[in-house]
Amino acid sequence: MKFSRSLANLAASAIAIFLAALAVTGCARESQDERIVLGFSQIGAESEWRTANTESIKAAAITSNIDLRFADAQQKQENQIKALRSFIAQKVDVIAFSPVVATGWDTVLMEARDAGIPVILTDRAVTSDPSLYVGFLGSDFVEEGRKAGRWVSGKFATATQDVNIVELQGTVGSAPASDRKKGFEEILATHPHLKIIRSQTGDFTRTKGKEAMEAILKSEPRKIHVLYAHNDDMAIGAIQAIEEAGLKPGTDILIVSIDAVKGAFEAMIAGKLNATIECNPLLGPQLMTSVAEVVAGRPIAKRIVVEETMFTMETAKQYVQTRKY
Ligand code: AHR
Repeated sequence: MKFSRSLANLAASAIAIFLAALAVTGCARESQDERIVLGFSQIGAESEWRTANTESIKAAAITSNIDLRFADAQQKQENQIKALRSFIAQKVDVIAFSPVVATGWDTVLMEARDAGIPVILTDRAVTSDPSLYVGFLGSDFVEEGRKAGRWVSGKFATATQDVNIVELQGTVGSAPASDRKKGFEEILATHPHLKIIRSQTGDFTRTKGKEAMEAILKSEPRKIHVLYAHNDDMAIGAIQAIEEAGLKPGTDILIVSIDAVKGAFEAMIAGKLNATIECNPLLGPQLMTSVAEVVAGRPIAKRIVVEETMFTMETAKQYVQTRKY
């Protein structure tokens, strides 16, 4: 009786140790030689930035010999949740995803945790408890908003009248839209003559950026001094709308946006975009390193912030050749 109880205790401890190891490494890999399987749920293909991000992830998976299962959610949260559930059912080693919006992930993240599959966030944050993911790799969107705000405040440092700003926001409820707004407004709060007179979403796309700007130009009687777009694609769409309205983008309306993609450099060289704040989409290599670390049972930093800079119309020509996206 005594013997069988201690055997049962031993078995229980062994199971507990196994489950703990499973939670750390996230999987019961049969051999070290097996390829790591990574399930990645991408938001969609809404912008030049996103395309570069997808290419970076796919290329890095090949270089790192990681078996990538890639799903495009076409900008819908329900598609991302379906993809995450499918990765759980496939028992992938690690799940990574770029969440389209910040809220609504708790249930599926708990399902991944209960299945012992570690989750890495890339690019965008969620509001869920941080214990539900092992790490988050991406830009500091609040700082990007601040950089745009500082650029505008520098341009109008000596202005004696109000400066009217139009803001084109990214996808409603997404981390970059709320953070870039927050950072920008933080700077504006210390410069009372800088005023956001209109703020509308353009969903991070050229088409919707153009539509939003067209509507604003038609209905806004006040002079617009500045356009602040949460990404380059919306700025490029808005540039078309401004030209069609008979105004000169970059001159009649100063424009600052975020990403620093090739299209933005072309617009800056053409004198139509004044500045772009860099948001680096080349997250693939760092993601694959993190995935390998997690599978090896080693901890990764909870937050990995990408280093970024900014470019202006004046410096665009000098940097365009060296840009990778
Ligand atoms: O999350 C990053 C943002 O998403 C990029 O700024 C934008 O272009 C993309 O669609």
